[in-house]
Amino acid sequence: MQINLNGVMVPKEQAVVSVFDHGLLYGDGVFEGIRIYGGNIFKLGEHIDRLYDSAKAIMLTIPISKKQMIDEHVKAAKANNLMDGYIRTVITRGVGDLGLDPKNCKGGTTYFIIADKVSLYPAEYYENGLSITTVAIRRNMGETLDPRIKSLNYLNNILAKIEANNHGSLEAVMINQAGYVAEATGDNICIVKDGVLLTPDRASGALDGITRNTVMDLAVEMGIKTVEKMMTRYDLYTADECFLTGTAAELIPVVKVDSRVIGDGKPGVMMKKLKDAYHSITKTIGVKVQ
Ligand SMILES: Cc1ncc(COP(=O)(O)O)c(C=O)c1O
Repeated sequence: MQINLNGVMVPKEQAVVSVFDHGLLYGDGVFEGIRIYGGNIFKLGEHIDRLYDSAKAIMLTIPISKKQMIDEHVKAAKANNLMDGYIRTVITRGVGDLGLDPKNCKGGTTYFIIADKVSLYPAEYYENGLSITTVAIRRNMGETLDPRIKSLNYLNNILAKIEANNHGSLEAVMINQAGYVAEATGDNICIVKDGVLLTPDRASGALDGITRNTVMDLAVEMGIKTVEKMMTRYDLYTADECFLTGTAAELIPVVKVDSRVIGDGKPGVMMKKLKDAYHSITKTIGVKVQ
């Protein structure tokens, strides 16, 4: 495997960063998770936009243009002959000293792009659905670290995942300080109620998910009413359908929330339609590797 490290393709074993890199020392950096389907890097433009927005929010200057960054992704996929898989892009503040002050990272940012296989939930969960649990740990507040920044600091979500695991669940429902549903630990959450597709609004503390937005757009095209609003756990418990969305997981059904059976306890009909619609565009919208 070859890794794109600061624009140079290097063998995996040589793709190393300094222990003084502030991405490692402080989680000071941003990242993206991207899928490639049949040689098409799906919605790469949207991922690059979000990457640059996250970087701007933390005053991290990416040394190359968006166009060059797109080319670097194509280069990484091509070098690994990757036609179907997952791409992880990381940009850190770079090498500094042991203090946290980013102005001491004088050498500029470090970036790397890993083009690899995708790791998914086991197939049985796509067929039968997930059981998820609300956890005590809250999603970050916008006033502290805005959840729309896809930063390298994921401890908040990791603690939620640990808590879910401790309860015997694969995934957590994260709520915000006000008690409204935000998202899962690495996925957005959607429900269907009376034929309407609903998801928490961005202000509730969710990442502005590209899969979420794609699914909402597809629903509109299919004539399904969509609503973004603040939601409580009551909305989840009483939903007809529930599912998670994310680049890696795509659309995955949820059949139980906090031990309440959702709908008839089986993956929902609308989710399946949306999933089919999603798969019908993954090889066409994006940037081709060839
Ligand atoms: C916290 C969080 N929420 C939601 C998502 C889903 O976003 P996307 O659909 O853009 O992958 C992710 C995935 O990166 C995430 O890390």
